[in-house]
Amino acid sequence: MKIIVPATSANVGPGFDSVGIAVTRYLTIEVLEPADDWFIEHDLGAGIPTDEKNLLLSTALSISTDMQPHRIKMTSEVPLARGLGSSSSVIVAGIELANQLAKLQLSDAEKLRIATEIEGHPDNVAPAIFGNMVIASYIGEDVQYVTSDFPSCDLVAFVPSYQLKTSDSRNVLPKEWSYKEAVAASSVANVAIAALLKGDLLTAGRSIESDHFHERYRQSLVKEFPQVKEVAHAHGAYATYLSGAGPTIMNLLAPEHTAAFVAALEELGLDGQIFQLKIDTFGVRVEK
Ligand code: HSE
Repeated sequence: MKIIVPATSANVGPGFDSVGIAVTRYLTIEVLEPADDWFIEHDLGAGIPTDEKNLLLSTALSISTDMQPHRIKMTSEVPLARGLGSSSSVIVAGIELANQLAKLQLSDAEKLRIATEIEGHPDNVAPAIFGNMVIASYIGEDVQYVTSDFPSCDLVAFVPSYQLKTSDSRNVLPKEWSYKEAVAASSVANVAIAALLKGDLLTAGRSIESDHFHERYRQSLVKEFPQVKEVAHAHGAYATYLSGAGPTIMNLLAPEHTAAFVAALEELGLDGQIFQLKIDTFGVRVEK
């Protein structure tokens, strides 16, 4: 059995802790033969546990202990701590692992509630479960969500070579805000979401780039942001935003602009990788 989970790009500008999209890079979990003890084979680095301490198994075992241990192979195209939902992809895979091995028959809504409780916010885990775009809230223990297609466009991610921990990126955010500021920020977010739902990427792009919630506080942590945004604008991008907590910089473009933008981005010679992506429309899936 294989469990395949897409990477995700959260916030999408002003949808802070609430909006995310699934993109075409994947975490793959192969469940191999039954074994006496759990063992995860991976090439993600020496710091990542191969036993029950791994987030995949700690998540699965927090849902059910009634599972035969297996040898597991974990392969990930989702770089760690870069703002592309690597930990969310593992949490969603762990929930699906328990769902399959313990035959729990969890609904998608139950998977989302469990994943949100573990991750703390729904914006990465929701699109990893459902694919496409998900707009979600998490207040108290209540998770509400709406799934939607994302307007047709290309996505080009610049992924810096350094990691940025979500906790460090959240530490630069304000602890409190005025009522006036909250009203202004939510009005920008409302227009961004409404425009995305109508497929109006020009209006959405302007609102995505007008975020008040997080980007302005975090830009100093991602030194490449202004340069990438300038080149994206010069090549007709709809929007450039910080993916999740960063440091990945996501660019939304009409397909006819993608090749020239990627070439110009390469010419900048920045230290990092460029991923050309599409929206994943499936979310987590199981192959047997
Ligand atoms: N909404 C989260 C943040 C995503 O921006 O901090 C990363 O977990």
